Amino acid sequence: MIQVSGLTKDFIQGQEKTQVLKGIDLKIEEGEFVAIMGPSGSGKSTLLQLLGGLDLPSAGEILINDQIITKMTEKERTIFRRKNAGFVFQNYQLLPNLTVEENIAFPLHADGNITGETRKGMDDLIAAVGLEGLDKKRANLLSGGQQQRVAIARALVNNPSVLLADEPTGNLDRAKAEEILVLFSSFHRKKKQTIVMVTHDIFAAGFADRIILFRDGVIDKVIARKDGDYAKYLANFMA
Ligand SMILES: Nc1ncnc2c1ncn2[C@@H]1O[C@H](COP(=O)(O)OP(=O)(O)OP(=O)(O)O)[C@@H](O)[C@H]1O
Ligand SMILES: [Mg+2]
Repeated sequence: MIQVSGLTKDFIQGQEKTQVLKGIDLKIEEGEFVAIMGPSGSGKSTLLQLLGGLDLPSAGEILINDQIITKMTEKERTIFRRKNAGFVFQNYQLLPNLTVEENIAFPLHADGNITGETRKGMDDLIAAVGLEGLDKKRANLLSGGQQQRVAIARALVNNPSVLLADEPTGNLDRAKAEEILVLFSSFHRKKKQTIVMVTHDIFAAGFADRIILFRDGVIDKVIARKDGDYAKYLANFMA
């Protein structure tokens, strides 16, 4: 479970302070698939970074699996993240000189335990994201869509209980996006994984149990699949 309370984030540049998150309260159940949508600059990536413990808030608290990550030291947060979270960054952040498989295995290498079984798991993952035959190719020689799929495989390689994905299908065509979303859904169902996915794409958001609409650093509206509003909302958006 993810529980966020009173979360604010200010960025200070010179004399100017901008409040990007203005008090977020949010509860995401274990095994829930949530999509976050909202205009560019509304604070979606900032929230995701905080949920992943990659940055600290200016105020407020984040609880993940009963642990207060905002009170941990940086080292504790790093260990917590490696064990519990998978992150797909908006700009992928692959290591350009490593191969596809080295990039994907990176979270496992850090733990130093590539066994035969994880090797097999990795091969399955490479196939699942549609990168067969590219495992030995260097990341800087891949197309944008291929890089995005490496980033997705890397985020899933350690079976994280929480997957935080920032525009994971932003660079994929509809067919590839659908394959990735089906993969997310199956991880989510089989492994009770919690997914928080930022997206601009209503098609992608339609895979989520709840859609959280963000506006200017606050939660504007939450729409759950079981609400009558959900289908109407999606339909309006598509119109
Ligand atoms: N490190 C930073 N320093 C200063 N300002 C920042 C920093 N990171 C983000 N911001 C500002 O915070 C605001 C929210 O940024 P954020 O990246 O969270 O938006 P977003 O909703 O993810 O947008 P997009 O849909 O374009 O990815 C923006 O105005 C951005 O300029
Ligand atoms: Mg963003």
